[in-house]
Amino acid sequence: MDNDNLLQTIRPALSEDNKYWFLACNVNDVSENGGACVKYKNEQIAIFNFSRRGQWYATQNLCPHKQQMALSRGMIGSTGEACEPKVACPFHKKTFSLITGECINDDECSIKTYPVKVENGKVYIGVS
Ligand code: FES
Repeated sequence: MDNDNLLQTIRPALSEDNKYWFLACNVNDVSENGGACVKYKNEQIAIFNFSRRGQWYATQNLCPHKQQMALSRGMIGSTGEACEPKVACPFHKKTFSLITGECINDDECSIKTYPVKVENGKVYIGVS
């Protein structure tokens, strides 16, 4: 499956703590240290397999800077003394925390983040 163009209609899977956990993809659908895009209702969600950290993250796919659906194709890395995980938009390199969604190099924009869990080779995204 082409990870850059991974667009799936995802369906409700589990309910827990007032969240619906949507089956987003299989673990093998997203390349190591890469991202992909899934669709939930009318929203595109970027999902990241940050294998160097052994973590998964999910954010909105829309970059708020110039309204580009691009974050799933961004470069992921870590920043600061706390090694905060981040993604850099491929267009103009605005960089967002994968934990809080705050923009690290511009106070005027931020993105939504989502919890992710992996069970039995399946990746789920939690939405309220
Ligand atoms: S569109 Fe993402 S940084 Fe400009």
